[in-house]
Amino acid sequence: MYLYGASGHGKVVAEVAEEKGYHIKGFIDENISKTTLLDYPVIHEPPSESIDIIISIGNNRIRKNIVDQNTLFTYVTLLHPKSSISKRVDIEEGTVVMSGVSINSAVSIGKHCIINTNSSIDHDCVIEDFVHISPNAALGGSVYVGEGTHVGLGVSVIQGIRIGKWCTIGAGAVIISDIPDGATVVGNPGKVIKVTEL
Ligand SMILES: CC(C)(COP(=O)(O)OP(=O)(O)OC[C@H]1O[C@@H](n2cnc3c(N)ncnc32)[C@H](O)[C@@H]1OP(=O)(O)O)[C@@H](O)C(=O)NCCC(=O)NCCS
Repeated sequence: MYLYGASGHGKVVAEVAEEKGYHIKGFIDENISKTTLLDYPVIHEPPSESIDIIISIGNNRIRKNIVDQNTLFTYVTLLHPKSSISKRVDIEEGTVVMSGVSINSAVSIGKHCIINTNSSIDHDCVIEDFVHISPNAALGGSVYVGEGTHVGLGVSVIQGIRIGKWCTIGAGAVIISDIPDGATVVGNPGKVIKVTEL
């Protein structure tokens, strides 16, 4: 398999793939100054044949653009063996779950998400495509997170909250009311400081 994105985040994703026993052929990255990462070669254009890929780029919009532009890729899903995932969880292709994550019963997680180190997602949450749940974030039960939203480091979201699409929830925020599409939110309690038109 190849990892698309030779970044710091790429190193972490590569180690999940290694833990799962994948044979990593290398990284793909458009930056021609990058030639190796973690002793793997970096190539600068995707191979022409159909290949197994995980996109190892933290930016949610860039992950979506890569998916939209590349139809030949087959996406793998990487679940760290030291994560705790209920057997009643649905996780779609291209998503990576890092070490220490807990995902409880009846959760649904979309495509190309990052469920980052030590985050926790309680029962009945719905996480749409291209979401990033950052390290140590905690979602209570029945939280909805819309497409492309970034939930920052250490964020807490109380149960039953609906967060819109392409939002940014700043590090350490505490979310106690619903958040509209495109909003940037910071603080405790979380306050909207900006809304971007989608
Ligand atoms: C919320 C965030 C996106 C704002 O970034 P930004 O748009 O560049 O905004 P600025 O840094 O200009 O800050 C705007 C205001 O919000 C405040 N602010 C920014 N981030 C904040 C945070 N996390 N909590 C509380 N206040 C915050 C700033 O102090 C500033 O306040 P002021 O106007 O009174 O001076 C960013 O600070 C953040 O928290 N990103 C998440 C990082 C993260 O979790 N990364 C995960 C890595 S795996």
